[in-house]
Amino acid sequence: MLGASQYEIDRLVFQGEVWRSMTDGLFEKLGVKSGWKCLDVGAGIGTVALPLAERVGNEGEVTAVEAIPLYAATLREELARKNIENVRVFEGDLRRFKVPRGAYDLIFARWVFSFLPDVERCLRHLVPGLKPGGALAIEDYHHLGCAYYPNRPSFDAVIEGARRWYGKTGGNYRVAGELPAIYYKLGLKDVEVVPHLRVGRPDSALWKWGELFFLGHLQTMIRERVVTLDEAKRFKRDLQAIKKIRGAMFVVPVIFDVIGRR
Ligand SMILES: C[S@@+](CC[C@H](N)C(=O)[O-])C[C@H]1O[C@@H](n2cnc3c(N)ncnc32)[C@H](O)[C@@H]1O
Repeated sequence: MLGASQYEIDRLVFQGEVWRSMTDGLFEKLGVKSGWKCLDVGAGIGTVALPLAERVGNEGEVTAVEAIPLYAATLREELARKNIENVRVFEGDLRRFKVPRGAYDLIFARWVFSFLPDVERCLRHLVPGLKPGGALAIEDYHHLGCAYYPNRPSFDAVIEGARRWYGKTGGNYRVAGELPAIYYKLGLKDVEVVPHLRVGRPDSALWKWGELFFLGHLQTMIRERVVTLDEAKRFKRDLQAIKKIRGAMFVVPVIFDVIGRR
């Protein structure tokens, strides 16, 4: 849905920095440690796979599954450049990845399942890869809550447009809310949801992250007919204008960590 481009690579790098503490917190909570074998599904350019590889050390291993060749190649280059030997890259769709049975301590995915049309089928494919007691941990959107203040009609128009865009490409911007029931259906236990709700001022990294997403993908949203040209123009103008207002803020879409154990 977001396409493969240098812009998107740069956005993923920045996103990796902004959200590193959230994902590190999840790994701390799960007790990820040296020797763990992990699967990072939809790994992008490796913004999670690389710190995860450091955490599991040379005794452990991370397999990064990534469908977009440009991203997989970027990750491979980074691994070679940094001499990292405990990350394997599978280039291709996750549904084509031959999942070894009972192999992983952790199967992880961040912002991948909201793009997928067949979430339950994908999870049915992945879950047998967990060791008994192994964790499935997904970080994704329960997108409700996202807003800019002081509010303007153009903000809601573009945010709603982005949500329709997820739907149009077969995804679900509220996927994280659906996951717990699917986890139980697939036989996982100890299912837990940890919500993240953040707000950022115009000078914050969170604001910039939101801007990179919405402004960077406005043209595509117009092309996809989920936003009109007029709404896009107003959005740009209004966003620029409210930045100067003291008290302006971006409410980040709600993210859930959804954890379950085999
Ligand atoms: C928004 S990016 C997130 C990347 C990374 N997880 C992160 O948090 O920075 C979503 C990634 O999932 C990948 N992806 C989406 N559907 C996939 C599939 N069916 N199989 C493998 N990768 C997929 C995309 O190519 C993209 O790199």
